[in-house]
Order: sequence, then structure tokens, then C-alpha cells
Amino acid sequence: MLDHLKANNRAWAEGSVAEDTTFFSRHENGQSPEYLWIGCSDSRVPANQIVGLAPGELFVHRNVANLAPPQDISAGSVLQYAVAELKVKHILVVGHYGCGGVAASTQEGFSGPVDQWLDPIRNVYEQHRAELETLTDEKERLNRLCELNVIYQVQNVAQNTYVQDAWKHDRDLSVHGWVYSLRDGLITDLGVTVSQAA
Ligand code: CO
Repeated sequence: MLDHLKANNRAWAEGSVAEDTTFFSRHENGQSPEYLWIGCSDSRVPANQIVGLAPGELFVHRNVANLAPPQDISAGSVLQYAVAELKVKHILVVGHYGCGGVAASTQEGFSGPVDQWLDPIRNVYEQHRAELETLTDEKERLNRLCELNVIYQVQNVAQNTYVQDAWKHDRDLSVHGWVYSLRDGLITDLGVTVSQAA
């Protein structure tokens, strides 16, 4: 079963060691990544590849539509571990244009957990309804919603207890909001970086 994936894995492991004999051995005793990536689960948005980081360099959390709501214990656990234990220096909240989760939040007819999960994006839409509805092109409107969603998630992360605690202790830690384009593979920095408690 899935022999092609196992063959890929063997080739990757062998190739990695051939290029760098310590590729795996240097990770055996721990990790100290400088960056935490909070991104979408979308298969077209591969965190490490986009920013050219190797294993050990990027702590990654991905979910549908790159959310970090305060009540979510999964994102909360990632933040606690990355900030309080690993002491990352940068948290990258990375959305992407053409996000299916963001689009789904504006549509009727979804049920199950995803419907509840996407609720925070509906709140973002409501807060910015006037601005969004000036955009008559639906794709443009959804892309703006992708950006606004990132900005709200940056605020959520900045209000996280462990992030606030790091700033209280004058630790070097920034939260950034980025959007990735599926069309050209490029990241846009939304210019909403937070580096200290408000
Ligand atoms: Co997405």
C-alpha cells in the first residue's frame, strides 16, 4: 500500500544524508526553531517550502483558514509551546488568496464542525461589511476577506497569554500578518506586525 510514498520517503532520507551527513542526527536531541507558522491546511500552501526553511527551522500549525481563535485549545497549545518553551522570535500568520475556507464562511449550506469552525470569519465579515460590499467582484471581495481574516488572527495571537507574557519580560517576539498568492508563489506582508503589548 502506498508504495510510491514509501519509496519517496526512502529517497528523501537517503538524499538528505548524502547532501548533509548530520541532517537527521543533529535533530535527535531537540529543536530550536526561530519561527512559528500559523497557516491554512490547503495542500497548495506548503509552509517550509514557501520560506525555504529546513526541518528544525519552522514550527508549524495549520488548520482550515489559518485561524487562531482564543477558545481553540489546539492553536493555544501550539502558541504555549512555541512561545514559552521554544522561545520562537517570530510568529507568521499566513493566509492565502483563494482560500476555500474563507469562501465557505460566506456561503450557506455547510454543516458539521467546519460550519462552527468558520464562525470567526463571519464575524470579521460583519465588522467590515461596508468595505467588503464596495467590492463588486466576488473574487476581489473574498481576497480582501482573506487579508482581514489574517489581520484579526494577528490580533488574536498578540492577545494570547504566553505572547503577552513574553512581551512583559521584554522578550524579542514579533507577530506578522502575511498573505500568500497561489498565482505566483509570492508572499505579501500586510504591514500589521506587532512587537510589543498594546
Ligand atoms: Co485556505
